[in-house]
Amino acid sequence: MIKAVVTGGAGFIGSALCRRLVGSGDYRVLNIDKLTETSSENSLASVAGHQDYTFLQADICDRAVMAEAIAEFQPDVVFHLAAESHVDRSIDGAAPFVMTNLVGTFTLLDACLEEWVSRGRPDGFRFMHISTDEVFGSLGPDGAFTPSSPYQPNSPYAATKAGSDHLVRSWVKTHGFPAIITNCSNNYGPYQFPEKLIPLMILNGLHGKPLPVYGDGQQVRDWLHVDDHVAGLIAAYERGETGGTYLFGGRAERTNMTIVEHICAHLDREKPEHAPHSGLIKHVADRPGHDTRYAIDPSETERALGWSPQHTFEAGIQATIDWYLQNADWWRPIRDKVYAGERLGEGKTS
Ligand code: NAD
Ligand code: TYD
Repeated sequence: MIKAVVTGGAGFIGSALCRRLVGSGDYRVLNIDKLTETSSENSLASVAGHQDYTFLQADICDRAVMAEAIAEFQPDVVFHLAAESHVDRSIDGAAPFVMTNLVGTFTLLDACLEEWVSRGRPDGFRFMHISTDEVFGSLGPDGAFTPSSPYQPNSPYAATKAGSDHLVRSWVKTHGFPAIITNCSNNYGPYQFPEKLIPLMILNGLHGKPLPVYGDGQQVRDWLHVDDHVAGLIAAYERGETGGTYLFGGRAERTNMTIVEHICAHLDREKPEHAPHSGLIKHVADRPGHDTRYAIDPSETERALGWSPQHTFEAGIQATIDWYLQNADWWRPIRDKVYAGERLGEGKTS
């Protein structure tokens, strides 16, 4: 069996990866997660008691704990997803982003390099660094990011992820450390924390609350279903080249307004109590430094890994909205505990 460490496995994408790996029967998983307020142990209910799954609540910035965990578990692969991940939170306060995304990634790299060297530099080991297309900055109306796009991060979140990519790259070049970097476009799907665009709009709409669209809502994101991202990460581990960069995107560019209107129309049909939900749309102050457009050209990755997205956006978003409508048990405790409905990321400190 392949021994995989997943960091950030109680988050949105990490939990989808844990569910996929543990369910496959090919992997034993050690999930290392600090359990920040945007995580949810309930996302792991289906694997929690499984013999091939272990959970360690720990901070990736804790060098001693990381070193001990890695030495004891002896992973064949580390999927590093632990991060502070929300742009709006990084505008309100960047300190946790610098700590986790930069210092945490460094700490993990350092501990993994030491262990890899002490084990005689095994060929098969991989460190998978999961990153974002936001490191490449904002696009104009045309074109798409490729693995050779220049780094131009605009938000504090993107800057810390860019810095972490550079750290990983330097470990490859300097130490010959067998790492792979992946950069992905916006993910959507079940179990996403309800402060990101899609789950926030679904739950606000369901409760008849305002739907806050930043600025004119004409910003474009390229949406990829989380299960397609997870399949890509496994393909990159199994077939990717050490030192390689792989870009995952869904070829599903949509404006934010299109997404919100789509959610409204779906709620009108399924939960008409607050229809027409489009009446809840409220244009609010734009996000400071708001990136206009992200888009990935995934063709190089598709050719190299034999991977391609399996979900169309229309089917995927419909299933996602229905998942939230049917899984109040998952989101209600989160909403009650930490989501006060306040707007994040208005740049109050600027
Ligand atoms: P998430 O916020 O849902 O999950 C992050 C997880 O990391 C949480 O469970 C949290 O508790 C954990 N964590 C945070 N700080 C930690 C620390 N110091 N030590 C240990 N654990 C810690 O994020 P996500 O959306 O699942 O994103 C996962 C990764 O994928 C991130 O690295 C993110 O940059 C990247 N990514 C996300 C998207 C997206 O659209 N969500 C797109 C591209 C790349
Ligand atoms: P988000 O889900 O925060 O992802 P990212 O900023 O990493 O792309 O936001 C997606 C888009 O939706 C982004 O352009 C900001 C916009 N947005 C809103 O208009 N209103 C909201 O309440 C949120 C959370 C986001």
